[in-house]
Amino acid sequence: MEDIPLNVLTKDDARAELARLSSLMGDAELAYYQDDSPSIDDAAYDALKARNQAIERLFPSLKREDSPSQRVGAAPASGFGKIRHEVPMLSLGNAFSSEDVEEFDARVRKFLSLDSGITYTAEPKIDGLSLSVRYEKGVLVYAATRGDGEVGEGVTANAKHVSGIPHHLENAPEVLEVRGEVYMADSAFEALNARQQKAGEKVFSNPRNAAAGSLRQLDASITATRPLAFFAYAWGALSSPLAETQLNAIEQLHSFGFATNPMTKLCDSPEALVQHYKNIEAQRATLGYDIDGVVYKVNDLALQARLGMRSTTPRWAIAHKFPAETAWTRLEAIDIQVGRTGALSPVARLHPVTVGGVVVSNATLHNEDYIKGLDSKGSAIREGRDIRAGDWVEVYRAGDVIPKIRDVDLSKRENQVPFVFPKVCPVCESDAIREPGEAVARCTGEFSCEAQRIEKLKHFVSRQAFDIDGLGVKQVEAFVEAGWIAEPAGIFTLSQNHGEALAKLEGWGEKSATNLLNAIEARRIIPLNRLIFALGIRHVGDSSAMMLARHYQSWMAFEKAMIEAQPHEGEAWDELNAIDGVGAVMAASVVDFFHTELTREMVVTLVAQLSIEDVHPPDTGGSPVAGKTMVFTGTLSKVSRAEAKAQAEGLGAKVSGAISAKTDILVAGKKAGSKLKKAESLGVQVMTEDEWLALIAETR
Ligand code: IVH
Repeated sequence: MEDIPLNVLTKDDARAELARLSSLMGDAELAYYQDDSPSIDDAAYDALKARNQAIERLFPSLKREDSPSQRVGAAPASGFGKIRHEVPMLSLGNAFSSEDVEEFDARVRKFLSLDSGITYTAEPKIDGLSLSVRYEKGVLVYAATRGDGEVGEGVTANAKHVSGIPHHLENAPEVLEVRGEVYMADSAFEALNARQQKAGEKVFSNPRNAAAGSLRQLDASITATRPLAFFAYAWGALSSPLAETQLNAIEQLHSFGFATNPMTKLCDSPEALVQHYKNIEAQRATLGYDIDGVVYKVNDLALQARLGMRSTTPRWAIAHKFPAETAWTRLEAIDIQVGRTGALSPVARLHPVTVGGVVVSNATLHNEDYIKGLDSKGSAIREGRDIRAGDWVEVYRAGDVIPKIRDVDLSKRENQVPFVFPKVCPVCESDAIREPGEAVARCTGEFSCEAQRIEKLKHFVSRQAFDIDGLGVKQVEAFVEAGWIAEPAGIFTLSQNHGEALAKLEGWGEKSATNLLNAIEARRIIPLNRLIFALGIRHVGDSSAMMLARHYQSWMAFEKAMIEAQPHEGEAWDELNAIDGVGAVMAASVVDFFHTELTREMVVTLVAQLSIEDVHPPDTGGSPVAGKTMVFTGTLSKVSRAEAKAQAEGLGAKVSGAISAKTDILVAGKKAGSKLKKAESLGVQVMTEDEWLALIAETR
């Protein structure tokens, strides 16, 4: 439906239109702030906002009480209760090619030190949202969304309206958490959209958004009118094992009354996996529901347990994604955005185009060289074709990632001029410097650059970081603009310095101001891993932050070690580098962060406002090596080095790469050399591989 032009809008039209815009923007804000999964892109949101404002200017008397122009972002979190998952809900690593699948299989075998073939299950990856449903003594007690993997939202009443989820189980384990995907079939999605359109309500852009919007209704009677379905594919807490293999466990869930995917198949080689992938891909269009790849899982549950997980993904499973969807459109302009680390990122502003069911109007152009047609080594990409504003370009998107530009059509080029990458920051005009060997140019303004300031603060309050209810992107922008917050510590002095003014700010009142200030107070107590992630250190994502936190355990220990560490030398540096998942680039970045005056000061003033919770490694009840520092050396014959390290870490030990006075135990395999000698000279306890395996067997 075309929008009615403003010059012919009657008062009645305007009233209806303002109601529609308020509801549309409300939904978009909810999706953005509470789902972390925008239902429309920024440009579409801005267009709604502009239209709303224009109509309000034409008919000021019609301005609604709940007008979006009065709101600063979304209302603080909704009425859903939070539920902490007893067993975290994991996500999956991705594979994009047959080579990636072979590498996955090789990694699994290497970790397990197994040469023989491993059997996997292969099943469709459903494009919906994951849900955990808990049963106690056969009764459904609650259902929770994934959330950040640790804490989700309770949607119990809603889940009871999803088909494929039984309300009672017979002969099931006393405690059973069943995990799977909630989705909406294509036909149900189309029927829902037709109904919504007729009623003048929000139309969903794809079945996934429709399923998410429908499950997350505060009023479960609305969910009841939305045909949602569920496939069970995994489990969380469990009082007794379901089976010995993945396939049998899923069959068991099926026998309890859960819907499970009929295309699940056993495969005993990477080739067989890829064959089934192709088979599923060929049926994709006629399945009747959206899938975005195929998931492979090690079938033997004992092997799954040995493989364990990295911080957020299991080693025993991977998602093989379908190739990206593409479309051609006109590149209207190239803008430069300044990111949290000062990186100048070129953004393609596109004539809106539908790619795989989603309207795309922005795409990333990566960096200066990418626009020129060069890769990071200076070799030609796109056969050297550069990209210019006004060109016809091919856009693609894979999964939820930001759309990208793949190619340009030179036959449609007219008199477009080459793009000139700026030498200064477009926001603060500080020099933008591209270090030799680096792909990106960075603004040197740090916290004096408003763009960097805002981005750093947005990151600081993001979901895996401080995640303060009611303090989202829009509020951060508003507070920075008002000059109230310039750096993270300012969030915690907001109450003292601007508490009264906040209640008077447009769109706020006593109640919402008090709610926000209370939410901020509650976050003064923060787990170490969230704080480390929130600092926004380059190369440190949320899973690396967790690795660092689990290793150092307390802020005092972490900060002390980072201050002691010198790049590429000494014990503190070696210890940092030995942490699983920390490479030299990340280590150098963390050390640099703690040795740079500006960032050090930011940290010191912030930490003074906080009470930082220690992070304990996973439960190690009765472990003889909890808290000890261990080193593995030489050739291990029964387990791989990676598995030995994971075993030790699982039992609460710290694993280091180098022997020092702090080492408690050295496990020496065959052909152990200088490390063994050094350990002996320092009087460190030395064990053989067999002694180590016997020790951990005792703790099982
Ligand atoms: S297994 C540890 N199996 O994909 C096992 N996930 O990208 C965790 N998903 O968070 C998931 N279909 O929401 C698994 N057949 C399937 C799936 C599936 C869809 C989703 C799930 C997960 C996400 C990871």
